[in-house]
Amino acid sequence: MGYKEVYATWQADPEAFWMEAAEAIDWDKKPSKALFEKGNNLYEWFADAKCNTCYNAVDRHVEAGRGEQTAIIYDSPITHTKREISYVELRNRVANLAGALRAKGIEKGDRVIIYMPMVPEALEAMLACARLGAVHSVVFGGFAANELAVRIDDAKPKAIIAASCGLEPGRVVHYKPLLDGAIELAKHKPDFTVILQREQEVAELVEGRDYNWHGFQYGVEPAECVPVEGNHPAYILYTSGTTGAPKGVIRHTAGQLVALNWTMKNIYNVDPGDVFWAASDVGWVVGHSYICYAPLIHGNTTIVFEGKPVGTPDAGTFWRVISEHNVKSFFTAPTAFRAVKREDPAGDFVKKYDLSCLEQVYLAGERADPDTIIWAQNQLGVPVVDHWWQTETGFAIAANPLGIEELPTKLGSPTVPMPGFEVTILDDAGHPVEAGTLGAIAIKLPLPPGTLPNLWNAEDRFQKSYLSTFPGYYETGDAGMMDEDGYVYIMARTDDVINVAGHRLSTGGMEEVLAGHPDVAECAVIGVADQLKGQSPVGFLCLNAGCTKAHEDIVKEVVKLVREKIGPVAAFKLSVVVDRLPKTRSGKILRGTMVSIADGTEWKMPATIDDPVILDEITEALQTLGYAK
Ligand code: COA
Ligand code: AMP
Repeated sequence: MGYKEVYATWQADPEAFWMEAAEAIDWDKKPSKALFEKGNNLYEWFADAKCNTCYNAVDRHVEAGRGEQTAIIYDSPITHTKREISYVELRNRVANLAGALRAKGIEKGDRVIIYMPMVPEALEAMLACARLGAVHSVVFGGFAANELAVRIDDAKPKAIIAASCGLEPGRVVHYKPLLDGAIELAKHKPDFTVILQREQEVAELVEGRDYNWHGFQYGVEPAECVPVEGNHPAYILYTSGTTGAPKGVIRHTAGQLVALNWTMKNIYNVDPGDVFWAASDVGWVVGHSYICYAPLIHGNTTIVFEGKPVGTPDAGTFWRVISEHNVKSFFTAPTAFRAVKREDPAGDFVKKYDLSCLEQVYLAGERADPDTIIWAQNQLGVPVVDHWWQTETGFAIAANPLGIEELPTKLGSPTVPMPGFEVTILDDAGHPVEAGTLGAIAIKLPLPPGTLPNLWNAEDRFQKSYLSTFPGYYETGDAGMMDEDGYVYIMARTDDVINVAGHRLSTGGMEEVLAGHPDVAECAVIGVADQLKGQSPVGFLCLNAGCTKAHEDIVKEVVKLVREKIGPVAAFKLSVVVDRLPKTRSGKILRGTMVSIADGTEWKMPATIDDPVILDEITEALQTLGYAK
């Protein structure tokens, strides 16, 4: 069957389609049906089934005789380490860790925060939680103590599993002091923490609260897999929204198993035993779905890469890892390729390695610019697939499903909707628009298995953020169009989310931090176009009347403040003081117009602008920062 037939099969009977996909999962109790309507536009998949994620990702492969196959390859150019973990070793390590967690009181439904760098133990911690039915919430290492504290207060974890440190090129990230700071800041206190002591920095442990990863496993009984209901939350992953408070995206157990397993062959075109590599971080959804869960559920070998596209040690790192570990499908963010291309435009490093194992490359996380795609195609000589998805969906909404059929690519488009997603472009009034017309991108409900069924303890916010604007649809927050052939084009966000180096960030969250500076009366943060990172945040500050402090000092202070409060990942480096912000007569800041001025794209004077003269001042301010040329 080609793509059209597969999509039509799904459309004709979505439940039958997913029930068939569910055959590939090992159930403790099979689902009696696929979809469960909960009312109020809420849906759950395979809710009455019983299953365990860790069993499907690990134990079943051992039981099927593939225990000696490598499950995880750890490759760290930063620490000069390479290590392989077979499925049987992984089973034993995870069962011991889960046993130790259980001995300290972790049970099904308890939350566990994981704050770890790219080491295999991060995946083992996730799997150990899954083994017990505990709900993990992984927090990206580039977030500061304050962001971690916000997540601790929302998820209320019984335990936190962390490493003593992370390693960025030329810099040790002191995780343990960040963790201590976060626990201090948070109202909710975990019962205990587990610290993986890394040799690059050994952390001081608090007696009675902090346990050593290895020591606390001594003499415990390994834990078996605990069957959980199909609609049991597998994890919570916080993502940026319009305000500073992150949204806790929930993933249900059974839906994730079925959907992710389906994608491995159909989208990523790998068979069990093949090596699959997603060069992302476990702190992001790509890391959850495609470093940890999907490759393991499908019986592939996954790679945990602790390094950067460039500088660890050079722009050939990706190619070395691919050729050395025999990678068949490779997944990264366009920004990573832009970084490589900038250092190695002619592909000299590419030529140094035998890349005959590589069959296809996937890009996601931000818009893939045609130049980058063409460069990658020319260098690698394999299909380079742009695919579009979100933390909320957990897997691709639109892609070129190479395992089904390689469709012709159209530059600038992540190709076509995947089964499960009825993508519709709507106008402001919620009416579908004609092909080729821009609008809000929405998805007809219900969303497929593996997508978010709700937000953690925040159903009202779930309804408001996603379901209320267009009744009967899920609002993606992206704007774009579909052409006559059904190809999707993603053009912009409709909210205050920006995408910096493939990382999703909230300008609203940054504004909250800037507004907290004692001299700042009002502020705005916008995302301006950045050649390497896609977008870059720029802050505009209006100071309190009578403030006599030097503007450079205030700018330095706010930059430091964002780094301290949100973290280095915000990459907030540019800010400027202005007298006033451009607003509509009703007081809404004209951020979109400011972005157009900064990027030098065409813009119209908004009819509702209060005082057009302010835009001249904004243009001048942007010019001092090197924009609006
Ligand atoms: N822990 C702690 N700090 C981190 C971190 C982590 N896991 N990840 C990034 N940071 C820090 C960086 O050290 C940097 O700090 P600095 O201001 O002291 O230099 C800051 O956060 C910004 O990092 P980043 O945006 O990654 O920029 P960079 O200049 O270090 O690297 C790229 C640029 C393009 C090489 C890099 O962003 C990259 O590899 N991007 C790919 C992103 C990706 O895979 N996204 C996943 C979505 S699929
Ligand atoms: P995240 O939740 O971090 O994965 O970010 C999701 C957002 O990133 C989407 O809503 C889009 O705005 C953007 N995005 C992800 N993939 C693509 C893509 N292939 N093309 C364009 N934008 C993308």
